[in-house]
Amino acid sequence: MKIITSTQEIQKVTSKLREKNKSIGFIPTMGALHEGHLQLVRESKTKNDVTIVSIFVNPTQFSPTEDLTKYPRPIEQDKKLLRREKVDILFYPSTKEIYPTDFQTTVTVNQLSRILEGKSRPTHFAGVSTIVLKLFNLISPTNTYFGQKDFQQCIVIKQMIRDLNLPIIFNMVPTVREPDGLALSSRNIFLNSQERLQAVNLYQSLLFGKKLILLGNKNVQKIKSEMDNYLQKYKLIRLDYIEICDSENLSPLKVVSKKAVILISANVGKTRLIDNIII
Ligand code: PAF
Repeated sequence: MKIITSTQEIQKVTSKLREKNKSIGFIPTMGALHEGHLQLVRESKTKNDVTIVSIFVNPTQFSPTEDLTKYPRPIEQDKKLLRREKVDILFYPSTKEIYPTDFQTTVTVNQLSRILEGKSRPTHFAGVSTIVLKLFNLISPTNTYFGQKDFQQCIVIKQMIRDLNLPIIFNMVPTVREPDGLALSSRNIFLNSQERLQAVNLYQSLLFGKKLILLGNKNVQKIKSEMDNYLQKYKLIRLDYIEICDSENLSPLKVVSKKAVILISANVGKTRLIDNIII
């Protein structure tokens, strides 16, 4: 696996690949890799000549209250995992390389960045869309792969690709889960054993919501309040939101009539977790 740290070099290498008509699959990550990320890599490897992964803990998507310094950075372990998956190139730039001191541009997908996660993390998606666009510009991938767990992030990036006419195919890959159903996340390591036991109920509540819908319940308010009731007994879970939205554009639904997604966000202890299920 070739490791590239400079923006100039990654651009040089990827433009050579394009000259040779090689397809490039690209997976942006912040490291602390788990099976969910590796699944994205495997998808990419089946469809592209070259697979590139980036590891960059992007400071601009953290708010001042979120602890950027605590974000796990097990880089040697990550490299080992990527080598095992036969990733061709790891792009691993420094913060200075990505954000030189005179950096001043932000890209925002306006409406989609304000709803759901955006309500309690108002600057988060501007940070995400800006870094992802930068990485897309550096790599010019044919395909990019994102995990369904971050469903809103997927919709934001898809919208940005459409709005800015980026010639990139967006691929959303289903969430990988622990055997008990908890969605894999780099943040799960922050859960203590009691929190870990209760955290699985986020997914259980999503399954419960889906069951209600499949049984014929269409009233979104009713389904949300039943899910909320279900979660009440788990005292370590502090619910932020349950929303049922159109899975194409995240517009909120009152009645489940079209392709819907249930999204949930909660603090389990001090750890913020999100999950979703497509109906
Ligand atoms: O999902 C993530 O890990 C990050 O938001 C991403 C897409 C790598 C941008 O920093």
